[in-house]
Amino acid sequence: MIAIKNQQEIRSMREAGAVANVVLNELAASVRPGITTRELDDYASTRIAGYGAKSAFLGYHGYPCHTCISVNQEVVHGVAGDRELEFGDIVSLDVGVCYGGFVGDNAMTVAVGGCGAADRKLLDVTEKALFAGIAQAVAGRRVKDISRAIQNCVEESGLSVVREYVGHGVGKSMHEDPKIPNYVTEDRTPMLRSGMTLAIEPMVNYGMASVKILADGWTVVTRDGSRSAHFEHTVLVADEEPEILTCPENMPSASRARSSN
Ligand code: CO
Repeated sequence: MIAIKNQQEIRSMREAGAVANVVLNELAASVRPGITTRELDDYASTRIAGYGAKSAFLGYHGYPCHTCISVNQEVVHGVAGDRELEFGDIVSLDVGVCYGGFVGDNAMTVAVGGCGAADRKLLDVTEKALFAGIAQAVAGRRVKDISRAIQNCVEESGLSVVREYVGHGVGKSMHEDPKIPNYVTEDRTPMLRSGMTLAIEPMVNYGMASVKILADGWTVVTRDGSRSAHFEHTVLVADEEPEILTCPENMPSASRARSSN
């Protein structure tokens, strides 16, 4: 069952998306050499609370942090700790919040200080793949059209899409139907309809696609040790143009006032 959101639910999704995106941008702006991943997660926690929101990740299947912070060969679900970011690292920041009963989910990968050509390509291709996927989030297309657009964009650049983790419907819960793989499967996939809200999130490896989970039970890393990037937006499927919900425009006025506290 894929939920179709009504106008009021969509307004709430816009607000949750705005809070998620503003926190993500604040987090990205505070990335610098020497900061620890725990300091970043603590900062995000303060910002999320300041906007009157809650982390959608903390406690999810026992996940121990407010955000997912994944460094270099870590793909997703990194666990914050004492690690200090170094110049030349890349760090994936994933922020999901619950606000007003709805979830906004978004992610981006940034370079710490600066980066070389290979990392630049990895980041640029992953973000470009996200936008290629978003462009397919139009009523009448199928989930597979999003998957294909992402996969083509990544593979024509010689990079690999992760198979084990996929995008998803999002709304009152963080994970709703349908699944949105970043690669084409043989399955007949659902038709997209106006009012569906989707988290589209390519995870792209510089080397091979395969991944494994570390002993902490959460951190997903590339098997070959190559670096990985992750970009995500929450998107509203529409008849003509998809709408990105994780953008700063629709910041709720109540939390704008609170944020200065
Ligand atoms: Co997500």
